Amino acid sequence: MRVLVIGGGGREHALCLALSRDHGVTELFCAPGNPGIAQVAETLPLTDPVEVATKVSADLVVVGPEAPLVAGVGDQLREAGFAVFGPNADAAQLEGSKAFAKQVMNDAGVPTAGHWIASTPRDVAKILDDLAPPYVIKHDELAAGKGVVVTDDRAVAEAHAVGHRVVIEEYLDGPEVSLFVLTDGESVVPLIPAQDFKRVADNDEGPNTGGMGAYAPLPWAPPDLVTDVVERVVRPTIHEMARRGTPFSGLLYCGLALTSHGIRVVEFNVRFGDPETQSVLALLETPLGGLLHAVATGTLADHPPLQWREGSSVTVVVASSGYPDSPRTGDEVTGLEDVVGVDVLHAGTSYDGDRLVTSGGRVLAVTAVGADLEAARESAYAAVKQIHIDGSHYRTDIAAKAAAGLVVA
Ligand code: AMP
Ligand code: GLY
Repeated sequence: MRVLVIGGGGREHALCLALSRDHGVTELFCAPGNPGIAQVAETLPLTDPVEVATKVSADLVVVGPEAPLVAGVGDQLREAGFAVFGPNADAAQLEGSKAFAKQVMNDAGVPTAGHWIASTPRDVAKILDDLAPPYVIKHDELAAGKGVVVTDDRAVAEAHAVGHRVVIEEYLDGPEVSLFVLTDGESVVPLIPAQDFKRVADNDEGPNTGGMGAYAPLPWAPPDLVTDVVERVVRPTIHEMARRGTPFSGLLYCGLALTSHGIRVVEFNVRFGDPETQSVLALLETPLGGLLHAVATGTLADHPPLQWREGSSVTVVVASSGYPDSPRTGDEVTGLEDVVGVDVLHAGTSYDGDRLVTSGGRVLAVTAVGADLEAARESAYAAVKQIHIDGSHYRTDIAAKAAAGLVVA
């Protein structure tokens, strides 16, 4: 099978690495890719996706990021006859518009935070008058994880809303979980739950980011969590999307809060999460190409049950100076040749001549597998310490509470 992956971040590197380990994948291409991906796949410039897929005679196209899905790349590829992993544009609105996602959840009876929509500062002020802090304010558009503020400070909440249509939400308490579920529109196959670390600094301080680290599985998760999410969230959502005539095929990323009142959906995404994918795929033994092909061709019901490796995985993101507010680029990345026994996934790197340099906010996602979370943490952090990038930073507490046997709030 000839597979084309679209994208060029840490998630796509993780996808390409897993696909390169699938014996059924005979040729692997990635557009545009990055220097890390180039070690496991043939990288090509991302011109027009249909043109690239045609050029490489792709049997399967895996669309990594949300932006092309929301823009209709899935539709274009399907119309051109390709098997595509990733939803069409109308179904990708589950991520593209928070207001749309809320409407679908309400129609499907899916538990989520109560919400209000506002387009003017006056409406925002009126809604906040009736709420107690913390305030949750979300821009109603794609924002790479940065369109959300959760704050006790009313002035900050109001300032975040200026110039945007926003969704204001009831505050959800409790630990957060990311559960990825594959679906071809009918069958659903959950992957293992993971946890992401959204804030930039240790102890969940500082602004939200795209994600500073992850681990899987969750030793503290209730045993019925996955079944509960599939039955109460995923099946009703998939059913509602089909009922509307916009069936969802691909990966439904359920961002959940486990509140004292039960599970609540914080957000839906329509693609693999970054950096949770790096942790989750590190433990997947089932060949990824066959699995994604089954999703893309509507044959997921015939796919054998998934096999997982024993143990745990931890991913630590190394971010560039200034991330997330004003990431600096062009810093040299050194020390990678000394790192062994872990996967160093490239998220924001490029070549400047023959020097590997930073080209984005999240630069590397170092992913280690171990017998348990503590062992995986040790390997991941040992590797991170061997890597040097001027001004870079990373969180030192990824999976620390879970490794210590605590439920992670
Ligand atoms: P989102 O992009 O909707 O996932 O929001 C980004 C992050 O903001 C989430 O992962 C949560 O940590 C936080 N967040 C979003 N919505 C809520 C909410 N209703 N209550 C509490 N925290 C939230
Ligand atoms: N890790 C958060 C996201 O992928 O949206």
